[in-house]
Amino acid sequence: MEKIDLENLKKQAQKEISKAQDLDELNQVLKSYLGKKSQVSLILKTLKNISPDERIRLGKNINKAKQSIQAEFEKRKQELKNIDSYETKREWFDVSAPGRKKETGHLHPLTLAKREIMLIFETMGFEIAEGPEVETEWYNFDALNIPADHPARDMWDTFWLKETEGPKSKVPNSRLLLRTHTSPVQIRHMEKNQPPIKIIVPDKTFRHEATDATHEAQFYQLEGLMVGRDISAANFKAVIQAFLERFFRKQTKIRLRPSFFPFTEPSFEVDITCVFCKGKGCRVCEETGWVELMGAGMVHPKVLENAGVDSKKNQGFAFGVGIERLVMMREKINEIRLFHSGDLRFLQQF
Ligand code: DAH
Repeated sequence: MEKIDLENLKKQAQKEISKAQDLDELNQVLKSYLGKKSQVSLILKTLKNISPDERIRLGKNINKAKQSIQAEFEKRKQELKNIDSYETKREWFDVSAPGRKKETGHLHPLTLAKREIMLIFETMGFEIAEGPEVETEWYNFDALNIPADHPARDMWDTFWLKETEGPKSKVPNSRLLLRTHTSPVQIRHMEKNQPPIKIIVPDKTFRHEATDATHEAQFYQLEGLMVGRDISAANFKAVIQAFLERFFRKQTKIRLRPSFFPFTEPSFEVDITCVFCKGKGCRVCEETGWVELMGAGMVHPKVLENAGVDSKKNQGFAFGVGIERLVMMREKINEIRLFHSGDLRFLQQF
């Protein structure tokens, strides 16, 4: 009977099995080791010719070797299958599937509104003016005719900045604060520019307020100032009417009511036709058909003088309105805090 080195056979089989690169090749290897014509099968056939003891011992060993080769085969087969399915998964793609859209952001609704407002006023010949967000007490209050003991100063809860160490400034009322309105830019601009003046200031303002649906601690204001020889309230009405019609994109009626601001005389409140009910009367306008929009007035002579402009030769109007308020009215938004929420469900509507 032919001698067989089972250990060597196992090793040889293992090596060839692990080298097989696909299922066909693997089956071929298995066949050569365990198939009908394999060495193992031939030996099994000759077992009957040997002594019973020998037969049992050799039979057991051969079966063990067969099992181990078979196990090795199964293992490699699984490996090849995994590689196969991985590669098909990787290479297959659905040419009919729609492309994946790259999400791109866009400008914030308030930035868009600010740009639109600037464009409208620029076409009417206004310039854009700027001033610091950290302002002195003088520019924010005193220069605007709001003295320390004036009750109007209580209207604004102000964010004051901590006084820093060092020599005290000689300038009166130089305490620092976050500006409560854009009106101080009127003074700053007039100090550097003589009339004729036509500016708007669309910028950030701060108030120490508890927030609710219509109040935020940080918001935008649109300030306007027009000063010259004979600028009148009629000019104000025409300018503001033209602006509102372009901004609201529809015919809008306005009306002026007497009011009070320390920096204007006379002062007025501007109402517009309620955009919700078009003036018929609804809950938003408390059935009046009008909603309050902005403060305005003829610049107080003291304010002109404080900024170095001759009030005998010049006069003009000023106005101030919340930009959020304008956008909320146009877009029918009833919650100011949405602007700073970062909520995409809100932002994506613009
Ligand atoms: N500064 C005022 C405020 O914050 C708004 C305002 C009213 C501005 C009348 C003006 C004005 O220029 O003339 O409430």
